[in-house]
Amino acid sequence: MHQMAPSPAAFKAARPLTGRVRVPGDKSISHRALMFSALAIGESRIEGLLEGEDVHATAGALRAMGADIVREADGTWIVHGVGVGGLLQPANALDMGNSGTSTRLLMGLVASHAITAAFIGDASLSRRPMGRVTDPLSRMGADFTVSPGGRLPLMMRGACPAVPIEYRLPVASAQVKSAVLLAGLNTPGITRVIEPIATRDHSERMLRGFGAELTVEEDADGARIISIRGEAELRPQHIVVPGDPSSAGFPVVAALLVPGSDVTVENVGLNPTRAGLYEVLRAMGADLTFENERIVGGEPVADIRVRHSRLTGVEVPPEIAPSMIDEFPILFVAAAMANGRTVTRGLEELRVKESDRLALMANGLARLGAHVEEREDGLVIDGTDGTPLAANGPVAIAAELDHRIAMSFAVAGLASANRVEVDDMAPVATSFPGFAAMLRSLGAEA
Ligand code: S3P
Repeated sequence: MHQMAPSPAAFKAARPLTGRVRVPGDKSISHRALMFSALAIGESRIEGLLEGEDVHATAGALRAMGADIVREADGTWIVHGVGVGGLLQPANALDMGNSGTSTRLLMGLVASHAITAAFIGDASLSRRPMGRVTDPLSRMGADFTVSPGGRLPLMMRGACPAVPIEYRLPVASAQVKSAVLLAGLNTPGITRVIEPIATRDHSERMLRGFGAELTVEEDADGARIISIRGEAELRPQHIVVPGDPSSAGFPVVAALLVPGSDVTVENVGLNPTRAGLYEVLRAMGADLTFENERIVGGEPVADIRVRHSRLTGVEVPPEIAPSMIDEFPILFVAAAMANGRTVTRGLEELRVKESDRLALMANGLARLGAHVEEREDGLVIDGTDGTPLAANGPVAIAAELDHRIAMSFAVAGLASANRVEVDDMAPVATSFPGFAAMLRSLGAEA
């Protein structure tokens, strides 16, 4: 899964991008749909599932622990769950590939089962911190042997019964929040997570939909208090997964930057805890309209129409960061061609994603001729006001196994005077199978 041959590709100036496209299903919702279905008794049906490698890693691990998961048609998957508490001991190590979400959420599930499991992953995942989940899960009774620095590979032994905890998140992380809630599903009593800064709430929405007793309150300081009653019984569901707003960011920014473009990205999930990119782009002057707004599977969805626009730099308020945490790489590309200065801060978390995204974006954009200052917690970018990047010749970019870095520089290439060569587009298959075909369908040479 994670040792494919590198797949280099070059991206160059595009004619106007036009047409209507769809992006694959939401990655966060897809992982959760599989996991919660695997814990319901009976048959769940999932439509629009992201068929990317990260989601396959989740499906593979759930199968290894007893769930019956079958692909019926494109994006339509049928799951027969084992019931809360019914996961079985896997025979082999759980290979998480490149996927932090699979790793952290599944560790939560295993934490309250009588299961011993090894978690392994690729070079990128093996550099990422796991202490943020092993800490609260240890308090619930799980036991861990981790690699130096609290990293993968690691071995864990779940506790059954686990102990309910009240846990205040030290980092704004939906993965950590979800890991504790998932462990709480099979823990007697009430498990509580306090979230000072709101992060994506797909777990809360979907767990309620599956019939879990979950409440969300706010304390006097505006922190969210999420409580789940354990030993829950989950009922199977029919889930329709909307298009991923993180994936939609790539064609949207490509259309904003390539003169003459007019693109519609259909069926994009716009849950307010995910839609920060679109708010910031609008504040920069982007011509974006949400058409056909509707609710699909409990999540707000719209078609996004976007036309080439002259963008103006902005200060991005740090409070908005969690709602666009995966979109900063592509926002930085937009900022590099805006008129004036864009300032971002409060983004330390970007250093522990699939790569150090602040460092890679700062280096790569500087090599494309952009004016970038890298700070500890963000980038300051002075844009070119529409002048194409890579004015001095082709630029080679090493994406370091990070799908979003690879796609961000692919988009930068479409708005550049010379070729942008990305060393390896293979990791894009983790979240956006068909990315190059989507760009081609809009008229790009990719
Ligand atoms: C995710 C949460 C975020 C995000 C990741 C998906 C999720 O990670 O970056 O791509 O599905 O819960 P953090 O929890 O580390 O912020």
